[in-house]
Amino acid sequence: MKERRRYPRGPRTIALAGGKGGVGKTFISANLAVAIAEAGFRVIAIDTDLEGANLHTWLGVRESSNTLADFVSGREDSLESLLVGTDFENLRLIPATQGHLTHAQPGSERRQKLLKAVQNLDCDLVILDCGAGTHASNVDYFSVSDVAILIIRPEPTSVENAYNFLRSAIFRKMELAMLKPEVQACVREAMDQRNDLGVRTPANLHPLVRSIDPQEARRFNKVLRDFSPQIIINEVLTAEDVRLGFSISEVCKRFFGVDADYLGYISNDEKIRQALRKGAPIVASMPEADASIYLNRVARKLLKQIEWR
Ligand SMILES: Nc1ncnc2c1ncn2[C@@H]1O[C@H](COP(=O)(O)OP(=O)(O)OP(=O)(O)O)[C@@H](O)[C@H]1O
Ligand SMILES: [Mg+2]
Repeated sequence: MKERRRYPRGPRTIALAGGKGGVGKTFISANLAVAIAEAGFRVIAIDTDLEGANLHTWLGVRESSNTLADFVSGREDSLESLLVGTDFENLRLIPATQGHLTHAQPGSERRQKLLKAVQNLDCDLVILDCGAGTHASNVDYFSVSDVAILIIRPEPTSVENAYNFLRSAIFRKMELAMLKPEVQACVREAMDQRNDLGVRTPANLHPLVRSIDPQEARRFNKVLRDFSPQIIINEVLTAEDVRLGFSISEVCKRFFGVDADYLGYISNDEKIRQALRKGAPIVASMPEADASIYLNRVARKLLKQIEWR
């Protein structure tokens, strides 16, 4: 058995989002969870998609009676009691809902409680599979995670939704980081895409913040500097699709002022559906498939980037 690693701080968190539905968030969450667990890290994958739960299916886990929905509704206060085992050593799962039931996303208070409980989980790494859309929950999971990954398909709608999602996440990070109530109010107003302040991007917001408080403006810059979202292009077919990751990274720098790293790409691979039908993640059931090779490459790069101490 591989040696287990232990870290003094709580688990590191990775959130996978994208704004758009059906871009591969859950497929990639499941396979990265397996690849990282196989590398010897103790992983907990959490399905936060209360309206379209299917991380359990990708991981070949049958229905569970205890799910994240119980925590969100307040019926359950401990995440530990929701953990279910998988066929993979070092990998456990918290499913989102029971059966095909859908549940409302958590309100702000419950969301904070959930994020705090995640920090107390006994594992090395938590993977949060986010649902589609820019609901405050998805934005919060993405904004506060140690690694925030945007999953993008090479198509204009996916790229557009990813930019909108990233914009929301940056504004949310600012709202959380700013200390003065006037600045927080200004950030909240700017979050609305049709705001009357004329703010479209974080770069537009910075001078407004500076005019209220120069110290807050310095904090603003630091938040932008420290935020490094990661990009994965999924379902790549052509060399142009591969290059898309670099151009998105450049646009993020120019319009948002953030250094978004191009973590990697995953090919469009019919074998993924075959693996899903068998209820086995492709990295485990078909390790030599193209998609598995790309997924493992992404997992290795990801592990190198995480600051463990
Ligand atoms: N690289 C790929 N090659 C081929 N098919 C893929 C690939 N990635 C994802 N798919 C297919 O796309 C579909 C959607 O994937 P997935 O459920 O992971 O998306 P999602 O972003 O989690 O969707 P939702 O927003 O509904 O949660 C699945 O049927 C999956 O088989
Ligand atoms: Mg999904």
